[in-house]
Amino acid sequence: MKIGVFDSGVGGITVLSELRRRFPGLEYVYLGDTAHVPYGPKSPAQIERLSRDCARVLRGKGVEALVVACNTASSLALPAIREEMGAVPVFGVVQPGAQAALDAWSDGSPVLVLATRATVNSQAYGQSIRGGNASVTVIEQACPLLVPMIEEGWIDHPILHQTIREYVESHARAHSAGVALLGCTHYPWIQDAIQKALPGWKVINSAQAIAELLGKQGVVDRADRGRGKVEWIFTDPAAVPAFAKKWVQE
Ligand code: DGL
Repeated sequence: MKIGVFDSGVGGITVLSELRRRFPGLEYVYLGDTAHVPYGPKSPAQIERLSRDCARVLRGKGVEALVVACNTASSLALPAIREEMGAVPVFGVVQPGAQAALDAWSDGSPVLVLATRATVNSQAYGQSIRGGNASVTVIEQACPLLVPMIEEGWIDHPILHQTIREYVESHARAHSAGVALLGCTHYPWIQDAIQKALPGWKVINSAQAIAELLGKQGVVDRADRGRGKVEWIFTDPAAVPAFAKKWVQE
């Protein structure tokens, strides 16, 4: 079985890694739109158009299911992507991420969603989490500088640590504990740095959640013998940061 995985850049590799770990017998096509990353500051219409283009490429590759491994595209372009993919099932990361936050949540503490500006503006996470439990306090924090830094390869740079602190410090001061949901698939690359800035908080990500969901829903045929092979497509291959190349060369 061939699964398509799509992201604006190298963030979806965190989802792909989870999928390969859980379903090592499948075959994958990864599409990173590195020519147009970041999606987060773009308008909903631009995000929809770019997502459609990516979906068309993956449909042309004959994928039998598509994982939209980008929270921004999942928040703003799922109906458009489904339209492009026809009968091919399409799975976004927002619903499973929201469910994972609810599962990790304990009474009284807030859920802090860290995401791109477009994802936060769409309110997809807030609606999804509150739809599951209306009593949960959801704080949505846009972190627009993080994706460009990660794509630049600054995953352990002092500026990255300082920037994370700027985004989360007030929340860490206001609440000694809570659930921090990484609502952007780039952020698991810097999960340790985020955890350091939010001591006492449970930091979770939607990458694990979507892989779990596919398993539970019986979408994947585990008997397949694709050997975890990945076809890598980047719309600008020269823009792939060095830390991610290690995965791409495997
Ligand atoms: N990985 C994308 C996400 O999950 C990043 C979006 C961007 O390119 O800004 O939202």
